[in-house]
Amino acid sequence: MTSRLGDDVTTDPSPPTLHSDQSGATLEKVMAPTTRSTSRRLTTMKLSLVAGLALLISACAEDKPLNTFEPRGPRAEAIDSMMTPIWIIMGVIFVLVVFGTIAIAIKGRVAPEDYDEDDLPVQTHGNFNLEIGWTIAPAILLAVISIPTVQGIWELEETNADPASGECRANADGSRSGELDVMVIGQQWWWEYRYDIDCDGFFEDVDGDGEIYGPNGAGGDIDDTEWDINIALDDDDLVIANQLVIPAGEQIDLELTSRDVIHSFWIPRLNGKRDTVPGRLHTWSLEANDPGEYTGWCTEFCGLSHARMRMSAVALSGPDFDAWLDNQLQLADVPTEADEDVWAGYQLFQANCMSCHVVNDGNLSYGPLVDEDADPLDLEPGTVKDFEAALTAGAAPNLTHFATRTVFAGAIFSHYAGLDADDDIVDPGEYLELSVDDGNPDGDYRLNEAILKRWISNAPDQKAMAPDDLRGMPSFPALSEEDLDHLVAYLATLD
Ligand code: CUA
Repeated sequence: MTSRLGDDVTTDPSPPTLHSDQSGATLEKVMAPTTRSTSRRLTTMKLSLVAGLALLISACAEDKPLNTFEPRGPRAEAIDSMMTPIWIIMGVIFVLVVFGTIAIAIKGRVAPEDYDEDDLPVQTHGNFNLEIGWTIAPAILLAVISIPTVQGIWELEETNADPASGECRANADGSRSGELDVMVIGQQWWWEYRYDIDCDGFFEDVDGDGEIYGPNGAGGDIDDTEWDINIALDDDDLVIANQLVIPAGEQIDLELTSRDVIHSFWIPRLNGKRDTVPGRLHTWSLEANDPGEYTGWCTEFCGLSHARMRMSAVALSGPDFDAWLDNQLQLADVPTEADEDVWAGYQLFQANCMSCHVVNDGNLSYGPLVDEDADPLDLEPGTVKDFEAALTAGAAPNLTHFATRTVFAGAIFSHYAGLDADDDIVDPGEYLELSVDDGNPDGDYRLNEAILKRWISNAPDQKAMAPDDLRGMPSFPALSEEDLDHLVAYLATLD
């Protein structure tokens, strides 16, 4: 305002009422209070308008991975096609009500000089026909909308045939058929995925005595609703974390639960959201029409790092998925002393990480379900996963095939950095770019070492732990730069 006044001074030859060197305070003093409040109101209105426009424009963004209006699977498409007509009806009603109100307000306006206290419109209370009308009309409308909605809810609940039908993912000859079931376990603040590869369900009677087992060998009826998620998985099952991998074009049935608090599982381009509740199993399903990466976000406030609890689902073509699955079912290689860096990293990993993380390799540690009389050395290689509960450590992701994933730390960081022609990192991946078609890393990417080292040395700096420091990844201030290099060298071998 001061500069506008200044401009006036230079262009207007007549003596100005306010001099250019007069401060805004002087200006305010000469302004009437009503003018000031009007100008403040105008500023507020302008700001609201700008904010509203910004919001509106941001809603027009395309190709955003969390856009529920860009469905990429039949379930999400069903939701979208149900929502579209409802949005249209809502839009029409919104326009009628809002603009009708504005029109009536304008039409009924009386100028202050025409205001006559004795000439007010007749005050009526209640018009029977109108009130019945605007009560019944919305009721009818809601009743009509509820038909496809309820139908849709039922359809979204439908899962594939019961696993007990005998359809099985992995046949005895190694071929694949039937449907895939995945248990999704929300944890503060990452997601675990357990694949029921052999279709014998998630709660297995591993020794055939009619009971399933809790973490300390406590028995329970196989149909018992009181179950524990730390149950044994047999050697055909698979536990991974952070990134769900599914075959494209197939419906994957999910069983959702949580280890700690209520989370909500939501990959908007594939399906709506579903809460994960401790002690309960909720069924849900996902299907992606095409290969690609689909991003999601925990949508139930679940503690300090709720905002950093993302999910990533990668859909692969059938053959790619089979290859992926074959690889995931392999044990990780145990490093040899010949490779000094990797060996050093392996030692550090065992000393610092193994109390929470699990890597299923030939040196498996044995959980409580191991037959205590059995000598681990008697087990055939590749069968060691039988009767052991070490697939999950509980509190932290299973890292067996860590390097095959493209995300870590609850899917907030990218494993891989993009490289330019000189092999320099162009995109350090500070936080994972929410891009739609990243897919799997290829030769143009390299392990995101700097981010990985920073995460290992001081994770809470990037993702807060729970206040009691018992949930979440702790920091490791004692690890030297060299230690971190060694750890990363080891992790890079977990492919
Ligand atoms: Cu998990 Cu929010």
